[in-house]
Amino acid sequence: MITIAPSLLSANFMELQKEVDRFAEIDNLWLHLDVMDGHFVPNLTFGHAVLKKLGEHSSHKLDAHFMVTNPEDYIESFKSIGLHNFTFHWESVTHHDRLISELKKNFPSVGIALNPSTPVNVIPKYLLSQIDLVLIMTVNPGFGGQSFINGCLSKVEYLQDQKLKNNYTYEIQVDGGVNASTVKEIVACGATNLVAGSYVFSEPNKNYQSRIESLR
Ligand code: DX5
Ligand code: ZN
Repeated sequence: MITIAPSLLSANFMELQKEVDRFAEIDNLWLHLDVMDGHFVPNLTFGHAVLKKLGEHSSHKLDAHFMVTNPEDYIESFKSIGLHNFTFHWESVTHHDRLISELKKNFPSVGIALNPSTPVNVIPKYLLSQIDLVLIMTVNPGFGGQSFINGCLSKVEYLQDQKLKNNYTYEIQVDGGVNASTVKEIVACGATNLVAGSYVFSEPNKNYQSRIESLR
C-alpha cells in the first residue's frame, strides 16, 4: 500500500495537536515535517522543539525533510527525538557519502531529496544502493500550495527502473502538488510514498481521512 505523508506545513499551527490527532487512526501514514532554514529556501518553519513534541505525542513515523544549507549540523540535536526518516537535499552537500554514513548511525531511514532542476542521475549507483528513500521535488521547495511540475515525473520513472534492474529497496517519494488530479500519473510512474500538504489540509470539514482515501 502507498504510504501517504501529510505535510504539516499546511496544518493550522495554532492547533497542531488537534491537527495531528486527526490522523491517529490511519494506517501507513508518515508525518512529513518540512524543516527550513531561511537560507537554502526562502522560508522558515519549525525545528527541534516542535518535532520533539510531535514525536512524544504521535505514534506515526516522523519524516523530516531538511531544506537547510548544512544538514550535518542537525544530526546531533535531532538524533535523540525519535525521527524515522532524515532526508537531506543533494544540492546542499559536498561530501554525500560521509553524510549518509553519519546519518545511518543515527536514524533508521535516510533519504536524498532532489530539487526540480537537479538531474536524477547525479546520484551514483553505489549511493542508490545504500539509501532508504529518494524524494523527488515536484515543486520548488519552500512553500505549500504550488503547482505540480510535470517534467519531474521522468525522474520517478528512472528511479523505478533502476530499482527493478538492481533490486534497490529505496522508497520513491514525491513532494509538491500531489492531489486527486496528479496522483494517478505519479503512482503509475513508480512512486511509493506521497507527500501531500494543501490537498489534505484544505478539506473543508477537516475530514483528512477522506482526502487520504481519495489519494489511495
Ligand atoms: C515544500 C514542501 C512540501 C509542501 C508540499 O517545500 O517540501 O512538503 O508542504 O505542499 P503541497 O502538497 O501543498 O504542494
Ligand atoms: Zn517536504
